[in-house]
This record gives sequence, structure tokens and C-alpha cells, in this order.
Amino acid sequence: MSPGATGTVPSVPGYLRDVYEWAYLNPSNAARLDHEQVVSVILWGNQRRLKRAAYDEFRPGQRVLQAAHVYGDFIPGLARRLGAKGRLEVVDIAPLQVARCRDKLCAYPWTQVRHADARDPGGGPYDGICCYFLLHELPGVWKRAVVDALLANVAPAGKVVFVDYHKPRRWNPLKPVMSVVFDRFEPFAKELWHHDVRQLASRPADFSWCKDTYFGGLYQKVVARPLVARPGAARGWRGALDRAGGNFAYPQRAEGGACTAGREGA
Ligand SMILES: C[S@@+](CC[C@H](N)C(=O)[O-])C[C@H]1O[C@@H](n2cnc3c(N)ncnc32)[C@H](O)[C@@H]1O
Repeated sequence: MSPGATGTVPSVPGYLRDVYEWAYLNPSNAARLDHEQVVSVILWGNQRRLKRAAYDEFRPGQRVLQAAHVYGDFIPGLARRLGAKGRLEVVDIAPLQVARCRDKLCAYPWTQVRHADARDPGGGPYDGICCYFLLHELPGVWKRAVVDALLANVAPAGKVVFVDYHKPRRWNPLKPVMSVVFDRFEPFAKELWHHDVRQLASRPADFSWCKDTYFGGLYQKVVARPLVARPGAARGWRGALDRAGGNFAYPQRAEGGACTAGREGA
């Protein structure tokens, strides 16, 4: 198996064994769960919309890293989106998931699946990086390390796209339901209710950040793009404006998909 950037093959982390063994390490459960309909039910019917929101951020011909295997059709769909002139690299930390993902991608020769930790994915810089519903399953320290590693592996003109849970609006009837689900089964998910993805980065000011939310705030897409410093650029807000090429980007709170491909988060 191919390792990540540091040349080490990762071992299965404690949180995966303790919390998610039944979902990702148990072969018969994995076979039962790895279907588009299952993911769609888990996401309250939003899988198609959220997949589209992620795919829209990437273009055919790009070289993209997917930070973990995803059940259902997400990964082959991303491979088709990039096309034969593109390149899709997927990393996953669980050997069973690496094998399942390889099976799904055998018809797409422009793809590669590696056994690696998203904290050390290797292969960068990428035109684009996609992190789809991984962060909510990671303990806080891992969340921060993965966010930093993905930001460190994106090309200056590229972007990192995070799609994941988000704090639902107060009026969302699913808020109490998801609160109970997370308290019982997903102990690290609520950290995304209390922290923006941006706040998980060590150097948030080096990126522009754009956020859309979906389904009454239950889901979010966050797009981070490197701000490329120009020599001699002024410091402070003028410098920030300059580094962003005149498009200083604030976090965005739109409901339903304004943060799309090619658009600067304004
Ligand atoms: C993307 S997340 C959750 C996706 C979503 N719940 C689904 O429908 O599959 C699940 C995957 O993340 C992988 N994973 C967990 N921690 C990881 C890490 N540090 N690096 C790479 N992959 C990781 C697990 O092995 C699993 O295959």
C-alpha cells in the first residue's frame, strides 16, 4: 500500500475503533451501508444536492484529492466530473475502505486510492481538495490537523472544499433530533455546531473563506482559497485586499449554494 507524504503507513486511529468500528471496519456492515440510498436517508434526502454542491467546485481536467472514502456513488461521480484528462486521488486510513474505494474506481484509470491519513495525504499541491463529511467524525485535535494538512496541500490558485454538518437554525425541527443523534452516536460532530471550519485552521488569514448552508443550516459547504501574497503588498486590510486581488473575502452565510465554482467569496 502506498503511504502518505511522510512515508508512513497509518494505523487505524482510536476514534475509528471506539466509535465507528461498526460502520467502517466491519466488512459485513460496510457492505450493507455502502449504498447511495443509505447515505441519502442519513442525510435526510440531501445527498444529491450536497454532492452537486461539492462537484460544482471542480472542473474537468483538474487534479483533485478526496480526503476519505464516502459510501454510495459520491466517489465515482467525482471521478466522472474530473474526466479522463483529470486525476482523482483518494486517501483513506482504513484498509477495508481503501479496498472498497478501489473496487468502485477500477473503471476509472485516472484515479488512485492510497492508504494514508488525511493529516498527511501526500501528493500535493492539488488543484482542488474535497473533504466530504469527514470532519464531523474526527476528534477536535484531528479536525484541526486535517484542516491544516489539506490547506497546506492546495495549489496557490486552487481551493479546499469542505462539505459537512453545521449548526441548524433555531427553528429547524431537526435540530433536537440531530442533537440526540450526535450525543448518542457522533461524539465529535457538535464541534461543527460551535466552530466554523475557518476557526479550525492555524492560519485562517492566509485564505479566503466562503460558506453556504443548506437545509435550515444543518449542512454547510465551506470553500477556502489561498490568498497569494504579492511582494511589497501593504499590511492590514489594504494588504489583505491586495492579496485577494481586490476581492477581500468574508465568511459567507447564504442558504443554498451561492458559493459556487469560479466565484470569489465576496
Ligand atoms: C468520509 S467519512 C464519512 C462519510 C459519510 N458518513 C459516508 O457516507 O460514508 C468516512 C471515512 O473516513 C475515513 N477516515 C476517518 N479518519 C480518517 C483519516 N484521518 N484519514 C483518512 N480517512 C479517514 C474512514 O475510514 C471512512 O472510510
